Amino acid sequence: MTLREKPLTNKESYAMLLQAGFPLLYLEGQWQNVTHKDKIQDWLYRAFIEKELNKGVYLWGGVGSGKSTLAGLMACFIKRHFYGEVLFTGCAEMIASIYHGTSASNFKECSVLVLDDLGKEYHHEYGLSRLHEVVEYRYSRLLTTIVTSNFSQYDLILKGGLWQSMGDRLKDERWMKTMKISGESKRICSS
Ligand SMILES: Nc1ncnc2c1ncn2[C@@H]1O[C@H](COP(=O)(O)OP(=O)(O)OP(=O)(O)O)[C@@H](O)[C@H]1O
Ligand SMILES: [Mg+2]
Repeated sequence: MTLREKPLTNKESYAMLLQAGFPLLYLEGQWQNVTHKDKIQDWLYRAFIEKELNKGVYLWGGVGSGKSTLAGLMACFIKRHFYGEVLFTGCAEMIASIYHGTSASNFKECSVLVLDDLGKEYHHEYGLSRLHEVVEYRYSRLLTTIVTSNFSQYDLILKGGLWQSMGDRLKDERWMKTMKISGESKRICSS
């Protein structure tokens, strides 16, 4: 990833991300209630700029623990500070979109890809093969990829077959830094 000489403003980066189909709920601007936002911003600065963490992050943990929100914050941060296309997609959504004619290259070749919710869905061979194809392409080129999942890489490996192959790549430290997100669900319920 190439660092911009001058970061984009929030407004500029949000407009570009929304135009590329970024989900509104995970856009950083929606973060009014999120705790430790400043600390997270500092951490992102150190990780992505000072330590040049520019390959991948694997965020895994329980339902509602905040993985997608954190992935969204990372993607917004990267968009502001680095050149290149940033895409955020659910895994199932990506597969459906390839099935309906979107070229897989869009997901393989973008500068930064957020693959949200890996591991839940497609027992279907077609979907699994497309997902594996994207993961393998980005792995073999060490392209910046942020993955969220309810499963650890070792859980994926235990599923066998193409899951095993993906889990093994996703735990390769040359590509991915693993972060476990613990805690109860942070989803607000009205009752
Ligand atoms: N640090 C935080 N402080 C307060 N609220 C948060 C925080 N992180 C996330 N949330 C809120 O918690 C809810 C769940 O977050 P999120 O969707 O990111 O969880 P998730 O881990 O991706 O869940 P799932 O496994 O179901 O996909 C959202 O409403 C989000 O706004
Ligand atoms: Mg999620």
